[in-house]
Amino acid sequence: MSMLEVEGVSKRFGGIQALQGCSLSVEHGSVTGLIGPNGSGKTTLFNVVTGYARPDAGTVRFEGTAIDNLPPDRILALGIGRTFQMVRIFPRLTVLENMHVPVRRQGLAGVLSGASTHEERARVLDLLRFVGLERLKNEPAGNLSFGQRRLLEIACVLMAGPRVILLDEPGGGVNPTMLRAIAGHIRELNGQGITFFVVEHNMGFVMELCHRVIVMHRGSVIAQGDPEAVRRDPAVLEAYLGE
Ligand SMILES: Nc1ncnc2c1ncn2[C@@H]1O[C@H](COP(=O)(O)OP(=O)(O)O)[C@@H](O)[C@H]1O
Ligand SMILES: [Mg+2]
Repeated sequence: MSMLEVEGVSKRFGGIQALQGCSLSVEHGSVTGLIGPNGSGKTTLFNVVTGYARPDAGTVRFEGTAIDNLPPDRILALGIGRTFQMVRIFPRLTVLENMHVPVRRQGLAGVLSGASTHEERARVLDLLRFVGLERLKNEPAGNLSFGQRRLLEIACVLMAGPRVILLDEPGGGVNPTMLRAIAGHIRELNGQGITFFVVEHNMGFVMELCHRVIVMHRGSVIAQGDPEAVRRDPAVLEAYLGE
């Protein structure tokens, strides 16, 4: 059984068919890439998998259990974490405060009152150290560079203890040095057993990091396989040249 199984998923927005009978799977322990021209449905697929969009048809299974009717917080609690193409952090909260947001049920008031357990605070510091943001812990997150915000978002997701993480363009707006750092973190976390499903336009990043690559075009999967084979696939070249 695959970790994540998407079967025949369709999603329409008004006149736009964003997903059309999309089927794919992500294997346990893999780093799986998801590529395709702009508008091919990658973010919509991530939204469906993580509960931010309801599919019109089809199913999504996590370890064999259908999850396509669950809300985002339930899906996160099951072990599926994600980051967003447009980074979602709270710019006026400090780096530390941002780290407490995902685990705080009582909402922002709880974060600001500092009501966290000793273990939780230790874990926050461990994760900030891991992504290299510990010395910035008391800075408002709005002062961070774009790349540092992406690292903070990854650290926030890790607070929930996910078993698979979906990253939507982690390299977007990030300089090459920072992108290499992000790739290093992904590799290390993958070595610890976390599965990754990653949308990224930087081909060097995808080729180096991914065990398997899935290609979408107009809402459906048009190719999949090892990175080299996918890169040479004429259908893939045609999809990119045609857009
Ligand atoms: N909430 C939405 N409302 C209307 N159209 C949307 C919405 N989300 C995505 N789309 C449309 O669906 C198509 C696929 O978008 P998206 O999933 O963001 O593609 P990708 O991430 O591959 O660039 C695009 O044509 C986009 O404009
Ligand atoms: Mg997108």
